[in-house]
Amino acid sequence: QQSPTFSTRLIEWQHVHGRHGLPWHSSNPYHVWLSEIMLQQTQVNTVIPYYQAFLAKFPTILTLAEAGSDEVMAAWSGLGYYTRARNLHRAAQLIVAQHQGQFPDDVEQVMALPGIGRSTAAAICAFAFGQCRPILDGNVKRVLARWAGITGFPGDKKVEAAMWVLAEQLVPQADIETYTQAQMDLGSLVCTRSKPRCDVCPVAADCVARQTGRTTSLPTPKPR
Ligand code: ADE
Repeated sequence: QQSPTFSTRLIEWQHVHGRHGLPWHSSNPYHVWLSEIMLQQTQVNTVIPYYQAFLAKFPTILTLAEAGSDEVMAAWSGLGYYTRARNLHRAAQLIVAQHQGQFPDDVEQVMALPGIGRSTAAAICAFAFGQCRPILDGNVKRVLARWAGITGFPGDKKVEAAMWVLAEQLVPQADIETYTQAQMDLGSLVCTRSKPRCDVCPVAADCVARQTGRTTSLPTPKPR
């Protein structure tokens, strides 16, 4: 008897224990994009009021593109990492100039926009368009390093490449939105950096780090 796949267990866990009702759970790609950029370096609870105020001020990509830099920076003020806001504004202008103001649904075109890397592009395409693509942010790297027992610093190009291959293999054919959010939520609520809650983890049964007593030593820290 095989246990359900990694993605099946994450999806089932997400339905019961994941975060629900977040304001950006939407299929509007502008909303999803804005939230993913804000969430890159800022916690969910801090993001929520900024996200709502930003959309009230700039309800569409066009209004954002046509706004002045000073207005955009003012709406971002307090969130930090201001390059994110400059890239967001520039990307909105590119979307107007190159995509008729419609957020592109081609992952390559999404990745070509400033401020959007491979993982953020995949998250946007999964949430907004239901495309089955893997994500690999800091939380997911920690989950995969532990579950598969991948050693080596995840910031290392070869280690990161191996993680992308694994992430690709684990992607489900359906319910990608739930799976994507599950990985983020598992990483921030259960498979935490310190004191992971393996007792409530849906993939603890076949987690290599847990089986070999290495949850505290994986992922491998930055060499120094
Ligand atoms: N971090 C990045 N994207 C996120 C999301 N959609 N929900 C929670 N945390 C996130």
